[in-house]
Amino acid sequence: MILAIESSCDESAVALFDPARGLAGEWVSSQIDLHGRYGGVVPELAVREHLTALPLLVGEAARHAGWPAVSSLAVTTGPGLAGCLALGLAAAKSLALARQLPLTGVNHLRAHAWSAFIPVHAEAPATYCERLAALLPHAGLLVSGGNTALFVIHEDLSLELLGATIDDAAGEALDKGAKLLGLGYPGGPQVERHAATGDARAFDFPRALPERGNLDFSFSGLKTSLRYRLADLGPDETKRRFADLCASYQAAVIDVLVRKAEFAIDRVGARSLGLSGGVANNKALRVRLAALAAEEEVAFLPALPRHTGDNAGMIAFAAWADPHHDKTDTLGWRIEPALALDARPASADPSSSVS
Ligand code: KG4
Repeated sequence: MILAIESSCDESAVALFDPARGLAGEWVSSQIDLHGRYGGVVPELAVREHLTALPLLVGEAARHAGWPAVSSLAVTTGPGLAGCLALGLAAAKSLALARQLPLTGVNHLRAHAWSAFIPVHAEAPATYCERLAALLPHAGLLVSGGNTALFVIHEDLSLELLGATIDDAAGEALDKGAKLLGLGYPGGPQVERHAATGDARAFDFPRALPERGNLDFSFSGLKTSLRYRLADLGPDETKRRFADLCASYQAAVIDVLVRKAEFAIDRVGARSLGLSGGVANNKALRVRLAALAAEEEVAFLPALPRHTGDNAGMIAFAAWADPHHDKTDTLGWRIEPALALDARPASADPSSSVS
């Protein structure tokens, strides 16, 4: 069984993954209420919370499985807040030393990419590899507050980035739009709630980089367009047409994501389409991508809601499922400075690693 630790931002999480049976337990301690008071994550406070929560969560997991059942450890190495990552890494390295267990460093974004396959594994662990082979190549859309990326997982399980945002991420566009509309953070769920009763065709917002060959995203113009539209409308008209504004703004984000997902499927000849990251919670986006997958005759693999945010379940799963993660290194892991989805994991010189 793999015991994984995640502490890249404002969630302390621990999970146990058994390749023969699936996820055996997931424990999360969220700091959302603490940071909510400040309108965003305060790194200094986040580190202190991880320091308190992680030993308790590890203790829970160890009581659940018993240490003899744990054969290896995994930990998020980045991207994330440096102090938070350092604390998780220190906890994981201490455990590795104390219990003499190998430790795998996992890139958080790659774990999101692979989270689409957790339900595939859970369905029938014994036949996962055969069913995985039938789903490759896989086109994946990762949409979160900090990242928007399209990637392919090839038949040899290598991951290649096809496109990414050149400015704001999709979730960031929704959060910034929500702020302009006077809604709180995180804005995505609030825009979605108001959009449910609005007309998505009421306002025309820009869809950037529409060319078929272009798999990059740009959302900063959309936010600017909303700012001008709100200034034109004035407060009374904005209030009267609030649901239409939310629906039209959300549709502009979703249209671009769906269109680019279609380009990606076609370009790589995908047999499945994945959806992961916080924005994957958006129902309208899920419905549109499910329809696209049906039209393109590919399997639709959305991550489970509990794996769309920060979680250790996907870290444990990726440590096992993604061959990119070097399983021979142990105490050499460093914080990953790179944001790139397909970056090599940041480990020390293997010759100096302790095993
Ligand atoms: O970035 P992320 O994966 O998690 C953390 O940063 O912890 O997810 C947060 C992002 C935010 O931008 C938020 O507005 C967006 O996901 N989000 C949504 C929905 N739920 C979360 N966006 C649209 N619709 C939702 N239902």
